[in-house]
Amino acid sequence: MTASSRPGSDEAAWIAGEVVHPTALRLSIADHGFSVGDGLFETCAVRDGVPFALSRHLRRLMGSALTLGLDCPPVETLRQAVAETLHAAPRAGRVRLTVTSGAGPAGAMRADGPATVVVTAGPAPRRALRATVVELPWVRNERSPLTGHKSTSYGESVQGLRYARSRGADEALLANSRGELCEGLASNVLLEIDGIFVTPALDSGCLPGITRQLLLEWAEAAGLAVQEATLSMTVLDEVRSGRAGLLMTSSVRGVTAVSRLDGRRVVQGELAQALSDLYDRRSRDEIDP
Ligand SMILES: Cc1ncc(COP(=O)(O)O)c(C=O)c1O
Repeated sequence: MTASSRPGSDEAAWIAGEVVHPTALRLSIADHGFSVGDGLFETCAVRDGVPFALSRHLRRLMGSALTLGLDCPPVETLRQAVAETLHAAPRAGRVRLTVTSGAGPAGAMRADGPATVVVTAGPAPRRALRATVVELPWVRNERSPLTGHKSTSYGESVQGLRYARSRGADEALLANSRGELCEGLASNVLLEIDGIFVTPALDSGCLPGITRQLLLEWAEAAGLAVQEATLSMTVLDEVRSGRAGLLMTSSVRGVTAVSRLDGRRVVQGELAQALSDLYDRRSRDEIDP
């Protein structure tokens, strides 16, 4: 690492084979990640210097790169970049891997140049015990070519979060164009109804979240029922009227209970704590499940 390295640091960055301090990171203004948001990213929680569920994150990234025609470097290169970054930031709480299509013309046309890979490690975000959520007036397009991919095109999420913040909330829920419940701005969603958890099926257009998938697998093994379903947005009336609980899931925040939806208090489901504890326990025991 360069002169800016600090022992025991919780932040570092990697670009073109070199580990640098994040403030020293330099990216071409012609990079298509910068100019048109043409890229993919993954964010993993980091525990004791080791990224959680890295193999699943890399599989999702490589699968999306193939579908979107992004010429991603081999997975070993990405693993090495993550390892070198975390070596320079042993106290990091999260690591982000971004792959863009590299330098290109200012418009939508890509050039043939190599992809850009950037890894950044930083402190873990403060883990909120409860989330405050609003329903957004916009929809997720379940037929978009970017649906199901963790694209760096996050402009809609930026506007969504501005909307949520202006209403005192920290997350927001999206319907898809068919009026079905889809996901949060940066999380998947689970409802607890009559002792059963339900989560929107992937054809809703939600991201195939790593946390969501692990919960589906771990809950089944633990005898907790979690089902994928097509859910009309009217299911949120069950939440607003106190007949259902609501949980959000993401890699950096784990399982978070929702305490308010559109300003109404949300009851916590009877099994919500058990599901959250199950996730915490299994993710502590298995670093790359
Ligand atoms: C739109 C969206 N949905 C769901 C998630 C949760 O996915 P994961 O559990 O893989 O972090 C994220 C994470 O950032 C997201 O951006």
